[in-house]
Amino acid sequence: MKNIPLSKPWIGKEEFQSVLNSNNVCSLGKISRKLERYFEHRLGVKRALLVGSCTQALEISLMFLDLKEGDEIICPSYTFVSTVSSIVKAGGKPVFVDIEQNTLGLDPTQVENAINDKTRAVVLVHYGGISAQVQKIKIICIKHKIKLIEDAAQAFLVKNEGQYLGTYGEFGCFSFHHTKNITSGEGGLLVIPNDNKAVGVCEEIRNFGTNKESFLRGNVDKYEWQRLGGSYFMTDIQAALLKSQVNKYPRILAERKRVYKTYWQKLKRLEKKHVKISKHPPNSNLHLFWLICRSKKERDGLLEILQVNGVKASFHFLPIHTSPFVRKNPGKFRITGGLQTTIDISKRILRLPIFPELKISEINFISSIILDFYKT
Ligand SMILES: Cc1ncc(COP(=O)(O)O)c(C=O)c1O
Repeated sequence: MKNIPLSKPWIGKEEFQSVLNSNNVCSLGKISRKLERYFEHRLGVKRALLVGSCTQALEISLMFLDLKEGDEIICPSYTFVSTVSSIVKAGGKPVFVDIEQNTLGLDPTQVENAINDKTRAVVLVHYGGISAQVQKIKIICIKHKIKLIEDAAQAFLVKNEGQYLGTYGEFGCFSFHHTKNITSGEGGLLVIPNDNKAVGVCEEIRNFGTNKESFLRGNVDKYEWQRLGGSYFMTDIQAALLKSQVNKYPRILAERKRVYKTYWQKLKRLEKKHVKISKHPPNSNLHLFWLICRSKKERDGLLEILQVNGVKASFHFLPIHTSPFVRKNPGKFRITGGLQTTIDISKRILRLPIFPELKISEINFISSIILDFYKT
């Protein structure tokens, strides 16, 4: 019986050696500092803060906004819980807006329609390594004087028209969870492209709400509690692992490309049957590979056959606006329109395994199950 996971980090001797050599268990150590400087340079941002997860990066960004009761934040419902829970934790009211078919990111027209005088920000998600319509949404945010936060958990090192995703808005949030293209086990990155004030405040929020970073730089002679914050660190051990994953990234991406191309060769005839196959633009990081089946019944049937054969294919996000938490707390949220695309995609999407060490024989095996299912 085969056992093919949905994702698998590519971690070998180099990573473990790098951890052993790190010789430092603390946070804000030499390796983390060097890696932060590297990310700042590579992404072209004012400040890159290594944190414990993308969830933490989102929470810090939302805390920075200093929300007042009734303040609204626009976000998708087709997303991971953290995109929305970080808004609620910071005292904001999530306003769910639908996604568009093409990118599976927020629909810019519906974003603009949802804006009112309580709107403070938009949190968009770049799904599966494909850019949402970030340029259009940024223009809308500038026009309405609201902030833009990019949940780029799945979109590290993806460029859109020459600019990295996560660097368009006030904040970009990335994940290095072990399901992501590069990993530190758990981990995340908060980037602040331009705003000097946000740099100082977010450094404090990451460090228990104290001005310890200023103290460490020698700018003040003691450090004290300045604001509400938390313990939002990545350790040097994790940073050492991450650094060697960054070095390996060209190979990781090349292998993902191989898997993506092979799937396409094998499965393209499904398009004749009106099954949609994920189409990534050349700059994508190929984080996810999915099919959009013709109905929920068909998706569930295919999923079952794949799983019975040891292939850990999966559905994806369940709409957040229909979750038990939202149903129990309806007053904390605003839902715009019917969110039809969100509901429809959630019912019909099926993710296939994609990771660097996925063998050609395994791709053939997975593809043949799918082609048999569709009798093509
Ligand atoms: C869109 C999105 N946002 C946020 C997260 C949370 O990332 P982390 O596990 O690093 O907190 C994920 C995780 O998969 C995600 O897909």
